[in-house]
Amino acid sequence: MIRNRIGRALGVLGFAAVLVYATAAGLTGSPSLGNQAFAQAKEAPSDTVRGTGGSAENWRVIRKGVEGYVSIPDKKAGVLVQSEGDNLRAFRNGPLSVWGGWGMLAVIVLAGVFYLVRGRIKVEAGLSGRTIERFNPLDRIAHWLTATSFIILALTGLNILYGKFVLMPIIGQGAFAALTYWGKVAHNYIAFAFIAGLVLIFVLWVRHNMPTKADLQWLAMGGGMFSKGAHPPAYKFNAGQKIVFWATIIGGGLLAFSGVCLLFPFEFHPFAPFFKFLNLFGFSLPTQLSGLQETQLALLGHGIVALIMIALILGHIYLGTIGMEGALDAVTTGHVDENWAREHHPLWVAELKGGGHH
Ligand code: HEM
Repeated sequence: MIRNRIGRALGVLGFAAVLVYATAAGLTGSPSLGNQAFAQAKEAPSDTVRGTGGSAENWRVIRKGVEGYVSIPDKKAGVLVQSEGDNLRAFRNGPLSVWGGWGMLAVIVLAGVFYLVRGRIKVEAGLSGRTIERFNPLDRIAHWLTATSFIILALTGLNILYGKFVLMPIIGQGAFAALTYWGKVAHNYIAFAFIAGLVLIFVLWVRHNMPTKADLQWLAMGGGMFSKGAHPPAYKFNAGQKIVFWATIIGGGLLAFSGVCLLFPFEFHPFAPFFKFLNLFGFSLPTQLSGLQETQLALLGHGIVALIMIALILGHIYLGTIGMEGALDAVTTGHVDENWAREHHPLWVAELKGGGHH
């Protein structure tokens, strides 16, 4: 009897032991009930963990860009996750690339349609055979220094934005990597040639690019571009060319400045004061920006201005070559046909013949 009871009690204890073991193993996820597994089970719900653990709440704060303390010299490392970086990449690979692509394509299509409808703008009186000097050698050096450097910067820049998606599938990863590496080196250094060109054309041509009353008339007549026989007034540069000039100077200046900000990242902080200024006009832009945010905004501005400039210059190149008879001579030989000059820049010719200067 007693033996039976002891036997039953041992049986119940054994069963209870198995049950406890199974529950503990199940909870810890470890058949050996190891310390590590217990430690994890204990740590998970805590909010105060430092180091590798951390709750959803911790990560939420980190995700919002909270800055912690680091003892290494680069204090930027104190920010683990910078959400603006994600936003920047999404905008750059999304709307910026898409709209930039459409903008450039639109200019090419418009130029094609314009060519089909209007044809090449001819010298209507025919070439006279007499020429006048339009640009002296220094003018032409300035133009081609700006133009060639811009074209290289545009091509290497477009490769940075679109190359991975457009060029790499065609030429392969190895060739694309080499091209992009050297393209980036070229982009960095040729920027200085472009800046020199900008300064030169500004100094040489600014006096010819001040607005005059004739510009309003020129604009009102659509520059005479849409109808034959219309020759609106213009001095050395017409209103359309003045737009190209100022877009080159202002757009090029912005490209140069934002480019220098990118060459020396975190050194310049132009956006905080700029946003402060804009806020005077009712905007509510952030004025506390980290060095990283400043650099990201510079990258964004650089891309936007570059794509607008490239679209504009595509139109300029069209008019300077296929679009208009006799124009290219101005920047190659420096001399243009007298009839071309009379039709496109009548007030300039009148000044030259009268001996005056504008
Ligand atoms: C293949 C490229 C280019 C060609 C064929 C070209 C052609 C020309 C021509 C023919 C003129 C003189 C027009 C005239 O005498 O009335 C001119 C002027 C000018 N070019 Fe270019 N150009 C090119 C690239 C560029 C680039 C890349 C820029 C600036 C980034 C630029 C900026 C200017 C400016 C500011 C003027 C004076 C204003 C004007 O005529 O529109 N050019 N170009």
